[in-house]
Amino acid sequence: MSNESLANLLKEERRFAPPAALAASANVTADAYGQASEDRLAFWAEQARRLSWSVEPTETLDWSNPPFAKWFADGRINVAYNCVDRHVEAGLGDRVAIHFEGEGGDTRTITYADLKDEVSRAANALLELGVHKGDRVAIYLPMIPEAVVSMLACARIGATHSVVFGGFSADAVASRIQDADAKLVITADGGHRRGKPSALKPAIDEALDRCPGVEHVLVVRRTGQDTAFTEGRDVWWHDVVDRQSAEHTPEGHEAEHPLFILYTSGTTGKPKGILHTTGGYLTQASYTHHAVFDLKPETDVYWCTADIGWVTGHSYIVYGPLANGATQVIYEGTPDTPHQGRFWEIVQKYGVTILYTAPTAIRTFMKWGDDIPAKFDLSSLRVLGSVGEPINPEAWVWYREHIGGGRCPIVDTWWQTETGAIMISPLPGVTETKPGSAQRALPGIAATVVDDEAREVPDGSGGYLVLTEPWPSMLRTVWGDDQRYLDTYWSRFEGRYFAGDGAKKDEDGDIWLLGRVDDVMLVSGHNISTTEVESALVSHPAVAESAVVGATDATTGQAIVAFVILRGTAEANDDLVADLRNHVGRTLGPIAKPKRILLVNELPKTRSGKIMRRLLRDVAENREIGDVTTLADSSVMNLIQAQLPTAP
Ligand code: WT7
Repeated sequence: MSNESLANLLKEERRFAPPAALAASANVTADAYGQASEDRLAFWAEQARRLSWSVEPTETLDWSNPPFAKWFADGRINVAYNCVDRHVEAGLGDRVAIHFEGEGGDTRTITYADLKDEVSRAANALLELGVHKGDRVAIYLPMIPEAVVSMLACARIGATHSVVFGGFSADAVASRIQDADAKLVITADGGHRRGKPSALKPAIDEALDRCPGVEHVLVVRRTGQDTAFTEGRDVWWHDVVDRQSAEHTPEGHEAEHPLFILYTSGTTGKPKGILHTTGGYLTQASYTHHAVFDLKPETDVYWCTADIGWVTGHSYIVYGPLANGATQVIYEGTPDTPHQGRFWEIVQKYGVTILYTAPTAIRTFMKWGDDIPAKFDLSSLRVLGSVGEPINPEAWVWYREHIGGGRCPIVDTWWQTETGAIMISPLPGVTETKPGSAQRALPGIAATVVDDEAREVPDGSGGYLVLTEPWPSMLRTVWGDDQRYLDTYWSRFEGRYFAGDGAKKDEDGDIWLLGRVDDVMLVSGHNISTTEVESALVSHPAVAESAVVGATDATTGQAIVAFVILRGTAEANDDLVADLRNHVGRTLGPIAKPKRILLVNELPKTRSGKIMRRLLRDVAENREIGDVTTLADSSVMNLIQAQLPTAP
């Protein structure tokens, strides 16, 4: 990567020390880094003791057949027992586990004792429906407590769950059910989206025409809408689960027993079923949640706004927080239903202290205006998290000021479906944070940046992010396809895990993520990351959000094309466009000036909030738009095209 392109983010000189009070009582202090680097495996063995094992492991890591890792292999543990029963046994049964907030304002308060009963009933129901240890269960649910209960019920009996995001189509569901060979599907009649009931069950009915291996469908009644039932196959949750005994004795499963499969949509080809197992996964999910969010389970109210269909929901709604005995908020709906202050109303209502959300949401809130969060009391907040993509420094600073009241540390957490848990992040009581940087690998984690020849780059340079040592919550393989596991992650650099992200190290050795390596543009021989140009644009007061792509260009190889959403108050005209180009030129250097800037109202995003640059590249290169089926809103591309001037 060229030095020009690296220089600019390094110009970000704002620094924020951890708040003194938080630092003084932080769960994890700077010593952890030293302790972990002295003896990494001893460090993880100690973290494993955060959990209750039915058979304590004596082995930590078996790396005799790399890259196929076994962690804590001779231990046995029940994940659901750790997330639920042990808190009740410790006398914490009355603690609220889940404050559920439906989109329409209906609420449920679920204590750990309630959760234990409900998970036990659901586990008994699964057994009655013929699901046994080692079987796969597909879960296709809205953001309701039954989603958490279903996952834990599977974990309890040793069935491997495969959660499929509720926004996915029948096709996507069918291919995932087939690949995992699921025996049972858990779904709902529907969920509430944008003020309306939105059906889920029809997608399952359509998918199951192609999935003969599915024996039963367990259906939660959420919206009450009319729902077709297939006799002998479909059963209602309230008919089958509610009548079960609330007693179920959890057995310890092998530490390497498959806990879940979660599909990640590779940019091409069929989705990869990322396999996570039991003991190592829970160890790292629990430790990182404790360390990165500084969770104090007696007093904190935690809220992760992700959907359970993504890994963030798995590790930081279900497994990490519940293993740690947290009290958390789960919200069913969208951030602008019924009004754009809904998130802040929820923070105020429940006194949320720790908020974990995504840059795309933060930029949307910026676009909606500072006055909206200002109407609510957000003074309960003490730690803010970000995940999903690089966070632009301006969005980071906005989050700190307008949500965090200038007092909350921001933890920018880098990780992936494949890593299972957070890998690179500040620690809120330790790290002096830098807007836009995930900073350094957590204690016990080894990450670095290498060049094309696998040489570690010096501080101040960029290249590819790699992980250099196995970690407890690492994926174990791609379900049913060991070769794809080897090819995708372990063949680019010998003995190192290739994350697929560009990154650079600043002069302090802190890591700045630059986006997926396929999001790097090559303009006149200079590598310029889309993230950097986007950050430069977003730092202009008129810009709310932007997406940048490299379009094939006869003279420069690629030319930079920027799609820009203006803030509410900015006036769109040619002077502003010229000003934006110059602003990028001033910030990043003339080479990074976009050749074209297109003002739009929307950007195409996947349901997990990632901008689909591939589609914007189609627009920028005047091509027919490619496959839009994974867009959150497939009509966005039509809107964008309708807004554009006719192609030059
Ligand atoms: C990719 C993984 C991790 C859970 C949600 C996404 C990007 C994620 C950050 C961050 C910069 C980030 C990377 C990564 N990413 N967090 N804090 N800074 N980039 O999981 O869908 O598996 O995506 O998201 O590009 O490789 P995922």
